[in-house]
Amino acid sequence: MKGIHKEFPGVVALDGVDLKLEEGKVLALLGENGAGKSTLMKILSGSYQPDGGDIYLYGKKVEIKNVNHARSLGISIIYQELSLSPNMTVAENIFAMREPARFGLINDKELNRQAKTLLDELEIDISPSKPVNELSISNQQLVEIAKALSMQPKIIIMDEPTSALSSKETELLFKIIRKLKHKGNSVIYISHRMEEIFEISDSISVLRDGKYIGTVETANTDPDELIVMMVGREMNQFYPQKEFTFVKDEKLLEVKNYTKKGYYHDVNLFVRPGEILGLYGLMGSGRTEIARGIFGMLKKDSGQMFIRGREVHVDSSISAIKHKIAFVTEDRKHEGLVLTASVYENVTFANLHKVLNAIKLISHKKEADITKEHVDHLRIKTPNIYQMVNNLSGGNQQKIVLSKWFEIEPEILILDEPTRGIDIGAKYEIYKLMIDLAKKGVGIILISSELPEVLNMSDRLLIVKDRRIVTELDPKRTTPEEIMMHITGRRGES
Ligand SMILES: Nc1ncnc2c1ncn2[C@@H]1O[C@H](COP(=O)(O)OP(=O)(O)OP(=O)(O)O)[C@@H](O)[C@H]1O
Ligand SMILES: [Mg+2]
Repeated sequence: MKGIHKEFPGVVALDGVDLKLEEGKVLALLGENGAGKSTLMKILSGSYQPDGGDIYLYGKKVEIKNVNHARSLGISIIYQELSLSPNMTVAENIFAMREPARFGLINDKELNRQAKTLLDELEIDISPSKPVNELSISNQQLVEIAKALSMQPKIIIMDEPTSALSSKETELLFKIIRKLKHKGNSVIYISHRMEEIFEISDSISVLRDGKYIGTVETANTDPDELIVMMVGREMNQFYPQKEFTFVKDEKLLEVKNYTKKGYYHDVNLFVRPGEILGLYGLMGSGRTEIARGIFGMLKKDSGQMFIRGREVHVDSSISAIKHKIAFVTEDRKHEGLVLTASVYENVTFANLHKVLNAIKLISHKKEADITKEHVDHLRIKTPNIYQMVNNLSGGNQQKIVLSKWFEIEPEILILDEPTRGIDIGAKYEIYKLMIDLAKKGVGIILISSELPEVLNMSDRLLIVKDRRIVTELDPKRTTPEEIMMHITGRRGES
């Protein structure tokens, strides 16, 4: 791709970007939220037309007219946002529009058989006849991958494919990528996770603010150099200092023997005002279910909850919010945002009373002020606060969900994977906001599958395994080895 240019109203998304992908190689694409990565890939895969610049395939200039045209040229993309049809089966999704038909009718048996062969080959263990809306997000992501590969592309674009995958599934994906490479296919890989980029890529191209910064060989670079390329400055501190452990020694929230059969069992935990309680476990260990339980979404069968020592009954998310509990879910796209509303509507709608003026009319000025504050704080990249959330980059959408919940001024804040898909600079800002809230006395429960994150941010750490809390550790004293031992029940490999 040479000199690619693309503008949206009020935004120059790409400003003369070059990109070179070699046969049989994995090229990583790196850049902060809103840098232009997805836009560049949507141009390569035919969903957007560039305003300027040229694309060459095997040295020949091509004009990629649309998605089908890109496919016929051997270019296939796994989008950052899942794009499956929820009511169709796995097999129907994989072969959408290309179903094997006999006498014009879709042959289900044949469809399922072909899907099964493909899934088996990829070692993905999902039934082809299952409707997609019954699958977990990570399984949906795997179906998305299978779908892209079913077209036997030469070039496969993966836009943050692992943001919903567990580490085991990520390993499976990497195995698939290595096989693809071996067959001479090329992959463009987008991720905010440095470790992944170092593990899987041959070279790395960096974008900043729609501009092409440069390309380096993975073997000859390190994270520090990449961060400078990405953010334009050095960052030697990734976690802000929290100088206190709690602001008041009382149990703000406590749950005792919380149980919902099959989801979570005998959960006992408490969080003090100003405390950050880490909840660490592998994906699927039940961390999210525990959070949903506390928030009343997965109503407990038995057990008790206390807020400041007084028993409360939280049996729905509405009653949770009434008790000033907020929950930022991991599935932000579906549970957290109104995609067709604007940035400012999304930030403020969960807390309308704050923006109501004396005569109970919504004050646009107040809404605008609050929103602008968040846009500044989290460096949300948007031309203005009236932009539709749908038009923002993936990471910036997530920042808006977080703003919304921070704005509710909760007393207890549950964050499920709050920094997933968020660039390194903005992560720091989110950690700072968490500490600011804690300083005001908010009790925070932080769920994360990033070990450095829970180790650096939590005051106390609970380990979740098999839908139970198995132990409490001191994050300042424990080691990754000790944690792995609790999680797997045996010593870590390293
Ligand atoms: N359809 C659109 N309409 C208006 N603006 C858009 C549209 N798509 C992208 N943009 C803007 O273009 C810029 C680049 O967005 P893009 O999605 O390419 O970023 P990204 O690098 O993929 O970020 P992330 O890491 O958050 O996914 C952003 O400022 C975004 O708001
Ligand atoms: Mg993107």
